[in-house]
Amino acid sequence: MGLSVVILAAGKGTRMQSSMPKVLHPIAGKPMLQHVIDAATKLNAEQIVVVAGHGIEQVRQHLVDQEVEIAEQAQQLGTGHAVDQALPLIKPENDVLVLYGDVPLIEQVTLANLCQEIPNAGISLLTVNLDNPMGYGRIVRNSDDQVVAIVEQKDASNYELLINEVNTGILAAKASDLIAWLENIDNNNAQGEYYLTDTIAMAAKQGGVIASHPTSAIEVEGVNSRIQLAMLERAHQLSKAEQLMAQGVTLIDPNRLDIRGELECASDVLIDLNVIIEGSVKIDTGVQIDANVILKDCVIGQGTHIKANSMIDGALIGSNCQVGPFARIRPNTELKDEAFIGNFVETKKTTLGKGSKASHLAYIGDASIGDKVNIGAGVITCNYDGVNKFQTIIEDDAFIGSDSQLVAPVTIGKMATVGAGSTVTKDVPANNLVISRAKQKHIEDWQRPIKITKEDK
Ligand code: UD1
Ligand code: CA
Repeated sequence: MGLSVVILAAGKGTRMQSSMPKVLHPIAGKPMLQHVIDAATKLNAEQIVVVAGHGIEQVRQHLVDQEVEIAEQAQQLGTGHAVDQALPLIKPENDVLVLYGDVPLIEQVTLANLCQEIPNAGISLLTVNLDNPMGYGRIVRNSDDQVVAIVEQKDASNYELLINEVNTGILAAKASDLIAWLENIDNNNAQGEYYLTDTIAMAAKQGGVIASHPTSAIEVEGVNSRIQLAMLERAHQLSKAEQLMAQGVTLIDPNRLDIRGELECASDVLIDLNVIIEGSVKIDTGVQIDANVILKDCVIGQGTHIKANSMIDGALIGSNCQVGPFARIRPNTELKDEAFIGNFVETKKTTLGKGSKASHLAYIGDASIGDKVNIGAGVITCNYDGVNKFQTIIEDDAFIGSDSQLVAPVTIGKMATVGAGSTVTKDVPANNLVISRAKQKHIEDWQRPIKITKEDK
């Protein structure tokens, strides 16, 4: 007997004012629906079925390449009707867990707990106590404190409206029970919808147990508007920031860090304001990340300092390096230990050897650079002839004078020196000095041009 997860995601999300289906709007850089699918996947669900309607083609496109089935709900006739659309895809002997594509922060432990013991002919129900229960279905209990029904806001009596315990919508039951109950629900209610919540009263009437599991509010918060989306984003980011601080990371302002991916961070790392993490990032101990840095898919070695306003994407940065301020490190860059990249330097598909430096204003692309090389200000590897890319090789201890162009393919040998302002088109042997610029000339008593006046014209 396996677990089938049904994710309701057919609603329009009118209040988002968007042409994109609500469930594809991102939290932490990832569609809300994907957060829910990931939580379901972590539960080892045998099957995940997304019930889609509005924007189904966009949802389908997002789910391509994922092991997720789609059930179409062409018309949104209510949550009960939505679950019913998924049931034909589900084995009757399975357990069913109902989740929502717009409730993204639900956690695996909560769900595992909810699904642990699903009563026969009963329901495992996730509830929450709210100071302001407005809009939610109220949990109605009998004098023995047993849950006997859920009453929707619009159908509730004045007395029921005072109940603070509400339905999160998330529940688990046996597929066979759901099939039987959903066959018998009607839409005789204030909204004219087929309510999933009506199954609670049905189960209770049959003597089934309704096992309620209370949870925290933030986990079951839904998104209906961009304001709520932004609020959940901040809450989610803050909880990630708190986890990092608990692991020994100093955050100058935990409200000004955004993690849109996976960050693995050792202790004694300092992260200044407005840092954005994307993809998969690993930061070793003693690293300092200054303000306004964007790190994407990279590894930063021990003791390295990334200075303000730098962007690093797809790179391996060694230990005790310095990068920035205002550096742009592009994919397939590798900086060996103690390398130094200064301001306005761009690198791409380049290895910079141990202790090598490019301190100011340089473009280094498609290059393999040895140890202890010095690259002067304004140096450019001319790697592109307009059609093809070529490689520049600079061997250990070479010195590349300022404002030089290295026209690839070209190799600068060990200990070679390139004089400032040179355009190097041929390989330079080891220990050579190369100068390709014109020799300095002097013209004595040089007469500067004289301004031409109107009368002269
Ligand atoms: C529902 C619950 C309510 C609970 C609340 C928690 C019912 C009848 N009520 O109310 O008890 O307190 O959630 O947020 O279940 N959906 C579909 N197809 C449909 C209808 C809905 O896919 O035909 C999806 C929506 O996209 C949405 C979710 O189900 O993501 C909830 O639907 P909604 O109509 O907003 O339910 P609530 O009124 O919030
Ligand atoms: Ca609603």
